[in-house]
Amino acid sequence: MCGIVGYTGEQECTEMLLKGLERLEYRGYDSAGIGETCPAGIAVRRAAGRISCLRKKIEEEPIAGRTGIGHTRWATHGKPSCANAHPQSSQNGRVAVVHNGIIENYKELRQELEAQGVAFTSETDTETVAQLLEFYYQGNMQKTLEKVLPMLKGSFALGILDAAAPNTLYAARRQSPLVIGLGEGETFIASDITALLDHTRTICFLEDDDIAVLTPAKAAVFNLQGRQQSRKTEQISWNQQAAQKGGFDHYMLKEIFDQPKALEDTLNHYIDREAMAIRPNTIPFTKEQALAITGISIAACGTAYHAAAMGKAMVEKLAKIPCRAEVASEFRYDDHPSSPQEVFIAVSQSGETADTLAALRREKEAGCWVLAVSNVIGSTISREAQGVMYTLAGPEIAVASTKAYLTQVLLLTLLALELGRLRGEIDEKTMKSYLTRLLALPAQVEQVLADAPQVKAFAAAQSSCSNIFFIGRLADYYTALEASLKLKEVSYLPAQAYAAGELKHGTIALIDENTLVVGIATQNKVREKTFSNLEEVRARGAKLLLITGEGCTIPGELWRLPTNGEIEGPLLAAVYGQLFAYYMALQQGCDIDKPRNLAKSVTVE
Ligand code: G6P
Repeated sequence: MCGIVGYTGEQECTEMLLKGLERLEYRGYDSAGIGETCPAGIAVRRAAGRISCLRKKIEEEPIAGRTGIGHTRWATHGKPSCANAHPQSSQNGRVAVVHNGIIENYKELRQELEAQGVAFTSETDTETVAQLLEFYYQGNMQKTLEKVLPMLKGSFALGILDAAAPNTLYAARRQSPLVIGLGEGETFIASDITALLDHTRTICFLEDDDIAVLTPAKAAVFNLQGRQQSRKTEQISWNQQAAQKGGFDHYMLKEIFDQPKALEDTLNHYIDREAMAIRPNTIPFTKEQALAITGISIAACGTAYHAAAMGKAMVEKLAKIPCRAEVASEFRYDDHPSSPQEVFIAVSQSGETADTLAALRREKEAGCWVLAVSNVIGSTISREAQGVMYTLAGPEIAVASTKAYLTQVLLLTLLALELGRLRGEIDEKTMKSYLTRLLALPAQVEQVLADAPQVKAFAAAQSSCSNIFFIGRLADYYTALEASLKLKEVSYLPAQAYAAGELKHGTIALIDENTLVVGIATQNKVREKTFSNLEEVRARGAKLLLITGEGCTIPGELWRLPTNGEIEGPLLAAVYGQLFAYYMALQQGCDIDKPRNLAKSVTVE
């Protein structure tokens, strides 16, 4: 969960590296550094804190190399400090390394080197890699990597400078993401493509244990035996504008307002409006496969887990297939039996989350057919899965996920509908009517967004509120989970989500006049029951906020959804939840796009 960037070419690269790091800052932001090959050797500048601190340092002590690496860190081994920031250098300064991932056996390796007299200066696992590369130097860095990489256990994406090869940039990866960018007379590496969009959209994805040797003219990829590998290049359609704030104060708000377009793009990709049918081959199931499925498991983390839970609700409602949704960090280790007749779905915006990837690998090994739902083309999860459905949300930069969530839920709903159709649970006419309703979603999200001023005003009036509950039943409970996570992530306010009917079994003891209870009611068969649960908390002094499509006479704030539809309601209610979280965080003065302690992409366990 750190960000890496690297360059070799004709230009002085300090500004490119800093800008690239700024684009990757969402991946980690507790310290940063850059290293460049200069006539006198490898020059390194590092600073604790944000990239702005590094910028300041470089203004005081400029460097001007044409080959360089940069890093923005989310600490795992050793506190965020200048000494622990990357690049980490070897003791004689021959090698500098930036790293994303965890070297699990670094302690043993470090002890062995220390026994040989190597002096360490940081607490990081990464320094061990730099020291190993110097210690075992084989005359050139590629050969040295072939020797050293097999010694490493764990995950890594590495950018490496060798003082003896000033115009060459080396890279390697195992499990952690790393892409190569190809420009005119310049080549790049980065943890993800958003750092490269200013320079190139020609991208090449590295595979596990690839070693890349980059010069200004080309990037060559080798395996651990030194044999050259062919890796196909792809053209990325995202542009830098899509990855910028576009006049909004924060990426989070921009991405909330991006949602009509994200939904529209995703709908256009999957639905043929003329035929009012799912486009062939966009949902990777044949009728035979759909009929053979005995069960579906979905696993994911964080917000993607809430989309997975919504997917479960939709699969059971629309396709009538038994389905479960699990937190990936539990699912990867629990004792559930897997069967080859089951389908496993990994949901991940980044496609790189370590626990989700591990869950996918476990199910694949057990013989399940595995499908990825991801937003990032070429991500590890999408490459390891046997089928992939991409959300077309565009780059999501704010750490708190918004548009990825909505498009994930949309895709899982489309999948549930198609499986229902293939299995004969949904006839053609009903299918067309569902698809017609989904196509109305972008306009309905616009309607919700038009209520932003009302949400802002309500948020401004909640200063006395010390405790916030989100309650709902069935799919609404999953929206409640997501709305409460969003609020916690960006505003740091204590919030909880509860299945509305369960609140009275103990937790209702927490309700008093300083509590706000947000009731979400979009599912027809339980709508009235949720209203009753809201009456119960109102009787105990709580203030109420209700998000529903249908009239309700309970006194309190009402945010009315533009439709009563049960498949659209959860998506629309989620948008109100996002706006509420954003405006609550705004009035708390929080760092909305980069909340404390978080990282967007968690590539460690
Ligand atoms: C991190 C982020 C969350 C995200 C989760 C899963 O914890 O802070 O916002 O939902 O990872 O990420 P993924 O990329 O797998 O969807």
